[in-house]
Amino acid sequence: MAQEVRGVVAHTKGKPVSVETITVPDPGPGEAVVAVQACGVCHTDLHYREGGINDEFPFLLGHEAAGRVESVGAGVTDVEPGDFVILNWRAVCGTCRACKRGQPWYCFSTFNASQPMTLASGQPLSPALGIGAFIEKTLVHAGQCTKVDPAAKPEVAGLLGCGVMAGLGAAINTGGVGRGDSIAVIGCGGVGNAAIAGARLAGATTIIGVDIDPRKLEWAKEFGATHTVNSAQTDAVEAIQELTDGNGANVVVDAVGRPETFKQAFYARDLAGTAVLVGVPTPDMTFELPLIDVFGRGGATKSSWYGDCLPSRDFPMLIDLHLQGRLPLDKFVSETIGLAEVEEAFHRMERGEVLRSVVVL
Ligand SMILES: NC(=O)c1ccc[n+]([C@@H]2O[C@H](COP(=O)([O-])OP(=O)(O)OC[C@H]3O[C@@H](n4cnc5c(N)ncnc54)[C@H](O)[C@@H]3O)[C@@H](O)[C@H]2O)c1
Ligand SMILES: [Zn+2]
Ligand SMILES: [Zn+2]
Repeated sequence: MAQEVRGVVAHTKGKPVSVETITVPDPGPGEAVVAVQACGVCHTDLHYREGGINDEFPFLLGHEAAGRVESVGAGVTDVEPGDFVILNWRAVCGTCRACKRGQPWYCFSTFNASQPMTLASGQPLSPALGIGAFIEKTLVHAGQCTKVDPAAKPEVAGLLGCGVMAGLGAAINTGGVGRGDSIAVIGCGGVGNAAIAGARLAGATTIIGVDIDPRKLEWAKEFGATHTVNSAQTDAVEAIQELTDGNGANVVVDAVGRPETFKQAFYARDLAGTAVLVGVPTPDMTFELPLIDVFGRGGATKSSWYGDCLPSRDFPMLIDLHLQGRLPLDKFVSETIGLAEVEEAFHRMERGEVLRSVVVL
């Protein structure tokens, strides 16, 4: 029997979101219905609302969530009703060319539920990142459910489902930051501060947080920044070089995603260093560099989708580290809110007042 539940829908580009009645089908083969307990508000939800991702309105927003599996469809063996899971947007297929090369974190053919969730009118919804979790119950592919230790609080665990994993993985998976390394992180929102927390976990000794908002720099220190730079007042590249014996950092993460911040990341690297783009640019942005600098400075420029994570490998490990007191995921939760307050949470995010607002159900 399909169920009727409440969820947050973006109907039109740039217009406020609203809470609607949504029909959730019973899970079909390979699918699961999850009772969502918590879902963080990510900047990418706002990008969807602004039409910055695609035009497939109406969207069911929310994609950074944890909950309990309620029911599973035929053939599902990895999870069962009652399991505490984090939802992921990388349910790897195992058979695409990336998976076959042993690099499943690049999987080019990830799984989502095949049945649509619909509005009362019957109109199908596009779930954000193939999840859609600002809703009481959601339908996903069973591979999108990663079991973790239920001792973790849902509002904390859910954050690994997107932004925190993206930032942390940008530093340690994509950037390969390790013991004794130096790293600079440009943009210290939820994603950037997760890169800082990840760098500390990995043993980086110089961790430089860069932002134009002094409040964000205070938070960056709490997550492990050893130095901070206000790039509204100081040249970011010069400041990062000064803090690294004039050389630049081994890794620079751009967690903003603008041409000017990626240029800073490119030039603030040491020779042979790595620049990682994790902030999402808009389609109109372009970027130009002297090719001789790309050649002459060596190293790598990389982009990081979802922190190059493998949910089945990374989520349980990071939850265990959190429960051992080594990863302060709870510090990302600025406030908990209800489904009806997502629109206001977008405004608070735009005003820079929060790291994460988390919807709890
Ligand atoms: N690659 C991925 O898989 C992935 C996943 C999740 C989010 N993201 C993206 O990461 C980005 C950051 O997300 P968030 O949730 O942390 O957003 P956020 O709004 O919380 O943080 C952005 C931060 O950047 C700072 N900033 C803005 N312009 C700046 C500039 N010119 N120089 C320095 N700092 C500047 C802001 O003050 C803010 O602290 C977004 O583009 C989001 O879409 C990417
Ligand atoms: Zn694959
Ligand atoms: Zn996200």
